[in-house]
Amino acid sequence: MEIGDLICDWRVPPGKVDLPPNTVHLWGVTLKRASPYLEELREMLSADERAKARRIHFATDRDGFVAVRGALRDILSRYHPLPPSELGFSYGQYGKPALPPSAGAPPLSFNSSRSGEWGLIAVTRTHSVGIDIELIKSCEDYPAVAANFFSPPEIRALSALPRELQPHSFLKCWTRKEAVSKALGIGFSLEWTAFDSSPVPPERVQVANHGNSKLSLYSFIVAPGYIGALAFDGVNPAIKFWAWPGPACSSFSTRDGTIAAPFTAPSIRPVWPNEVAR
Ligand SMILES: CC(C)(COP(=O)(O)OP(=O)(O)OC[C@H]1O[C@@H](n2cnc3c(N)ncnc32)[C@H](O)[C@@H]1OP(=O)(O)O)[C@@H](O)C(=O)NCCC(=O)NCCS
Repeated sequence: MEIGDLICDWRVPPGKVDLPPNTVHLWGVTLKRASPYLEELREMLSADERAKARRIHFATDRDGFVAVRGALRDILSRYHPLPPSELGFSYGQYGKPALPPSAGAPPLSFNSSRSGEWGLIAVTRTHSVGIDIELIKSCEDYPAVAANFFSPPEIRALSALPRELQPHSFLKCWTRKEAVSKALGIGFSLEWTAFDSSPVPPERVQVANHGNSKLSLYSFIVAPGYIGALAFDGVNPAIKFWAWPGPACSSFSTRDGTIAAPFTAPSIRPVWPNEVAR
């Protein structure tokens, strides 16, 4: 563990979730939790989202998209007067979904990510937020990927680590950079080599070639085998971890989260390599 790393303390959400300013709610969605509700979640999607799902070749990826998009709609509607299926997303130049302001609805900013059996959804009020999750798996090509995407100080720090720590530190750096690029809404179109993702709160990551944006960046182990990062364009947010219990309007679930605990939190404290890429 390092300064700036979070411990995911997944909780069952209360019936009414309160989202004060300068707070981030991180929702954990497991595909196992979503699978009984897949048809219900599919029905919440818009016509274009359903069409996108139909174009996804592999069934596991298709179901993963439906699960996390549906869960995203369900989660946002817990903060919004509209029901999940009536939320109308707009899309930024590089595809980042957003909820346009609407009368009577408080502002909401959000981002989602999916890998393996997990989805993560970050929700906040007015700040930009970016989230990334990656399944920790062996990636033999990581030096080549780092050479293409990491900044020179990040590459130097990664190479200086003992070989056995490098793959994990590579993924930690990767998720941090992707969270930053997603908070800015640019994704892979951002010049990834041009910024250093190592500063930990209260220091902020600075993206000089993008309006000098400054972001607070946090890393965490989502569950055994999954690493995540959260980027937030403010300072010192309160962060809460909610385990998505299934759709609030489902006949099997309730808004007060009375359904059984959604998943088991990691039973061991996450252990990081002694050093990370910086
Ligand atoms: C954003 C991006 C890095 C995500 O990559 P990924 O690792 O495959 O996916 P993740 O699971 O972490 O995140 C996917 C989610 O990010 C969100 N997203 C999509 N584009 C985004 C963007 N530009 N910024 C932030 N978030 C974005 C969506 O909610 C998406 O969920 P969906 O699958 O339900 O649509 C990648 O899709 C990207 O670079 N997109 C930009 C593409 C682009 O430049 N298009 C040019 C159009 S002119």
